Amino acid sequence: RKKVTIQTLRNLRQSKTPITMVTAYDYPTALACSSTPLTDITLVGDSLAQVCLGYSSTTQLTLSEMVHHAAAVARGTTHPFIVADMPFGTYCTSTSDAIRNAVRLMQEGRVEGVKLEGGAEIEHVVRRLTDVGIPVMAHVGLLPQRHAALSGYKVQGRSVDGARKVLHDALTLEAAGAFAMVVEAVPQELGKYITERLKVPTIGIGAGPHTSGQVLVYDDLLGTWSGHKAKFVRRFANIKEVRDNGIEAYAKAVRDGTFPDPQKESYSMENGEWERFM
Ligand code: KIV
Ligand code: NA
Repeated sequence: RKKVTIQTLRNLRQSKTPITMVTAYDYPTALACSSTPLTDITLVGDSLAQVCLGYSSTTQLTLSEMVHHAAAVARGTTHPFIVADMPFGTYCTSTSDAIRNAVRLMQEGRVEGVKLEGGAEIEHVVRRLTDVGIPVMAHVGLLPQRHAALSGYKVQGRSVDGARKVLHDALTLEAAGAFAMVVEAVPQELGKYITERLKVPTIGIGAGPHTSGQVLVYDDLLGTWSGHKAKFVRRFANIKEVRDNGIEAYAKAVRDGTFPDPQKESYSMENGEWERFM
């Protein structure tokens, strides 16, 4: 498949073809995301913090860690458009810091665009980044980087005031130049309405079936771990079971001496050489 561009994403939205986005965190997960022509976007999500690095929250992830992982994802990515999350704290100190950090993600991390969590209050940052040619994917609704400030991970926009706020955020960030928008954990009616009001594609996660596309975390959709499963997650495979069975079978075979097999899995000296060696 030809390389996906922002124009490709616009065309998909225009033709009402649902856009597919998956997260990746390193070279093998990037290869997996590139293994079917049906994927459109690979996101180096800052969920990297929890699913790969063992942190308890995305707020602990540094820019250097993200750059290191993004570069590995880029080496394994073929056709999908590749976007990385700007980690917590890397785009709020000033617009020049935001530009410098986004440029680092593009130059060292080799991504084609950056994703920023936030509402209308980050309008000026999104405008500056897009003005200098850095493609920005916005992220509204539930903002995991603010879980501490918001006292947890909660569905957003369930009340009239809440829904108005999320809609206002989305419209403001589109006007600021965002090329697409993740809409996380909002009622499906709101996901549908925001999608109708925007010209740019919406990528939903827990936002119902009517957004322009969907995104899930790699480990959630493949079942590589047994942690908390949000309501919006569907498991399309159970990798953890297959993987843990494989490790157990290997350890058992070593313990009981059946691995390695002397005929099939071991080398032998050339003919007669062992006798001469002894
Ligand atoms: O970090 C992440 O994985 C994300 C997606 C779930 C949208 O931001
Ligand atoms: Na994220």
